Amino acid sequence: MDTPAMLQLLKDPMGVPFFPVVFQALMVLTFTLHILFVNLALGTTCLAVIGRLKGGEAWERLAGGMAKAATASVSGAILLGVAPLLFVQVIYDPFWYASSNLSAAWAIGFIFILMAGYASLYLAREQKGDASSAFAGFSFTMFLLAGFIMHVLGFQLLQPEKWLGWYTSHGAAATAGTVLHDFSLPRFLHFIVPAFAATGALLMLYAWYFRARADMDQAYLAWAGRLGAKMAFHATALEAVTGFLWLLVLPRELRFHAHPLFLLGVVLGLGLLGYLYHAQRQEKDHHRFAWPAALGMFAVVLEMAAAREALRIRYLSRFGYSIADHRLNLDWGSTALFLGTFIPSLVVLAYILAVAYQSGRVAGRWEAGPRMRAWGKASIGILAAWIMIVVGLGITITLRNRGL
Ligand code: HEM
Repeated sequence: MDTPAMLQLLKDPMGVPFFPVVFQALMVLTFTLHILFVNLALGTTCLAVIGRLKGGEAWERLAGGMAKAATASVSGAILLGVAPLLFVQVIYDPFWYASSNLSAAWAIGFIFILMAGYASLYLAREQKGDASSAFAGFSFTMFLLAGFIMHVLGFQLLQPEKWLGWYTSHGAAATAGTVLHDFSLPRFLHFIVPAFAATGALLMLYAWYFRARADMDQAYLAWAGRLGAKMAFHATALEAVTGFLWLLVLPRELRFHAHPLFLLGVVLGLGLLGYLYHAQRQEKDHHRFAWPAALGMFAVVLEMAAAREALRIRYLSRFGYSIADHRLNLDWGSTALFLGTFIPSLVVLAYILAVAYQSGRVAGRWEAGPRMRAWGKASIGILAAWIMIVVGLGITITLRNRGL
């Protein structure tokens, strides 16, 4: 059987419950958020190691803060990894499942690797000195390995013409799934190097955020802001190099160098690099550049995520595969439930973020104002209503299915 026919057979015959292009757009958006948190997780964990190794008051203090930021970033990365995982499984089902099965032991081991890294991060937070850097170093290694597994699964997926060869490489069907069959170092680096750019922007935001607090050491904040600006610039420059290396190893027939999204990425990336160069050259007040740098970085990563998807489309169109060809089996009920969960949850999430933002900006105890209290009550009401609707739906559907 040829590869295009095999791919059609592997597709879910039930089709998709909504327009595939909507899933694709949401996948790009949620992948952008996922990879930003991945980068923050890797960068903050690495700084927690370096800070403890370097020692001295400022570095020790930074290391403690980074270990705490790392635990929050990893949970963000996990939470925001689930969404693109679901979308990729819906519109690229033949590819994702085949790739995961080919390296199944690693796909399952991924969860335990992540858990080990995450647990060790909490130990790093509790310890001081060498013990802390050893635990954080272990976490960093585990996160890198987890990222590498994700990279391999995403890269094997693009090459269905090689699957049969990998599956039967030793003359018999290899069902153990213990082999990671292929990787692309420039591609992997292009997703890992920005860890230091994102963490640099985070440090600039950190300096900006705590400047408002009189009880904070302003000299330390200025140092952190400067360090952040330098890190963000140098990592972005290195990121541009890895991007061009990745382009060089892409199959020629894809002609990706001429793709409009690639070209736009180059323009935006170089624009960001120029801005960061300007920011890090300043003598002081690097916090002033924090927001434009962070927003610019978000825009570039979003564009790059779209370009990454455009590249996947080029890879897979070689086999006549297009997500638009999925059988459409419109299901308004599940779509309404999805939107009815997604949109109100933004209100609740924004409330939690607003509490975190406001409470950290005052020294000592923070008291919520009348508006925040009303928002809090509304959020609890939304959650209670959502639980009642979902439980009610579940009970109704179960009873109906049993003919009651
Ligand atoms: C610290 C932990 C993690 C790291 C370092 C990490 C890193 C990465 C990297 C580097 C990529 C890009 C790979 C490429 O395109 O070559 C990626 C993609 C992805 N990751 Fe993560 N990840 C982590 C956790 C997770 C978790 C917990 C999930 C799911 C629950 C997840 C789901 C995904 C998905 C769905 C993709 C995109 C796959 C695709 O579009 O082909 N990741 N991750």
